[in-house]
Amino acid sequence: MQIQQNISLKNYNTFGIDAKAKHFISVANTEDLNNVLDLSNYPDKLILGGGSNMLLTQKQDKLVIHINLKGISVEKEDEDYVFVRANAGENWHEFVVWCLNQNYGGLENLSLIPGNVGTAPIQNIGAYGVELKDTFVSCDAIHMASKETKTFLKEDCNFGYRNSIFKQEAKGKFILTSVLFKLTKRNHRLHMDYGAITSELESQNIDNPTIKDISNAVIAIRESKLPNPKVIGNSGSFFKNPVIPKAHFIKLQENFSDIPSYIISEAAVKVPAGWLIEKAGFKGKRFGNYGVHKNQALVLVNYGGASGLDILNLSKLIQKTVQRLFDISIEAEVNIL
Ligand code: EPU
Repeated sequence: MQIQQNISLKNYNTFGIDAKAKHFISVANTEDLNNVLDLSNYPDKLILGGGSNMLLTQKQDKLVIHINLKGISVEKEDEDYVFVRANAGENWHEFVVWCLNQNYGGLENLSLIPGNVGTAPIQNIGAYGVELKDTFVSCDAIHMASKETKTFLKEDCNFGYRNSIFKQEAKGKFILTSVLFKLTKRNHRLHMDYGAITSELESQNIDNPTIKDISNAVIAIRESKLPNPKVIGNSGSFFKNPVIPKAHFIKLQENFSDIPSYIISEAAVKVPAGWLIEKAGFKGKRFGNYGVHKNQALVLVNYGGASGLDILNLSKLIQKTVQRLFDISIEAEVNIL
């Protein structure tokens, strides 16, 4: 177990930002993790998972602890269901593929989401009509101050849209070490309400899709819209989709008759931030080595060599313009560090 000094985090964040960590360690087992937490000469610690939901805007002075805990195991099963535990450092998509290969259903709509298992509950990852919370049973976490292990059940997590207790009152206090999922072994519940999935399956002439077919459709849709972080640095959706009062939405419709929306309640409507950003003229805009993705305006990209501050400033310009044009405040989804 050795702490490295002054190392670049470029390969540890999907934005590919070349920011330095003053002190860095990667831990592959809970014993090492506990030992690192004991190090009193590094009081401030930053926990790093897959680095897929962060924008590094400066050198990190805290001790950066990269969670590299691996392992997948079946805890119990019957004829219909299986309870699978995955350790926090497992790559999310590789875990999804592992489940599909066992014919375990529930995660197929969440195929190809960047990041690791241990960070998935923090923002309750979601795509194509499914969220992590739908299959989540519990997660184990270490309380950083006391080093006690705590199990968070689903009802403890306050899951919401891109939100959980780990972004609220428990923020920065716990390290997630593993997540337990309840998946189906048969009679899989397929989620195909999302229009793009049905049209993708139709275009492939698939009438009776399997969970693997759904996964392949999701992969095809994602690959057509979202940049591969291994090729172009990005962090997926940079902003959350805002929820606005219905009265405000009706007013906007007077000027923008094509504005899309999802009904949230009697009084509230969710508007796709990607549409607002596109209407504001930013889609596909390139500013030197960074910009807004050409197929999905929600995604800010680093073409190589951009700094976190460049991207942060672009995000602020987008927020200001959207505010001015639509009187809507859009909130960053990624963590700015
Ligand atoms: N839209 C535009 N222009 C754009 C992008 C989108 O007009 O540049 C419009 C589309 O035409 C469509 C609507 O916005 O009417 C929705 O677009 P899309 O289906 O691409 O979904 P999204 O709301 O933009 C969300 C998630 C994605 C997730 C997709 C699919 C958030 C912040 N983002 O995007 O998640 O993959 O739905 O479920 O909720 C991520 O979190 O990193 C992510 C990629």
